[in-house]
Amino acid sequence: MTRSGSYDIHKLHRDESAEIQRLAAQARLGWEKEVRTLSWSGLENGMSLIELGSGPGFVTEALLALVPKSQITCLEIDTMLLQKAEQY
Ligand SMILES: C[S@@+](CC[C@H](N)C(=O)[O-])C[C@H]1O[C@@H](n2cnc3c(N)ncnc32)[C@H](O)[C@@H]1O
Repeated sequence: MTRSGSYDIHKLHRDESAEIQRLAAQARLGWEKEVRTLSWSGLENGMSLIELGSGPGFVTEALLALVPKSQITCLEIDTMLLQKAEQY
């Protein structure tokens, strides 16, 4: 698979751990609005979900708390971020 998106943590950020912390903060700060949008879009507990560009997994974690009966498939192109998510 080749990268075609605009986000590449290795090119955009010299301090990758700081960027991962920023993603954690962003996921937390924006979550209430995300929940409203997801509810409005028809999200229900038990649905099968795919999360595109799941990164280190902070949104995945919040989604699992919101819809614990759902199965979430994560798609992530970056090996390092995928490993972070698996560890997390
Ligand atoms: C801005 S980050 C957001 C990460 C995560 N959703 C979060 O909120 O913490 C965008 C993510 O999309 C991933 N990504 C970019 N292009 C992709 C592609 N073509 N397929 C899968 N993942 C991709 C990046 O590696 C990165 O982890």
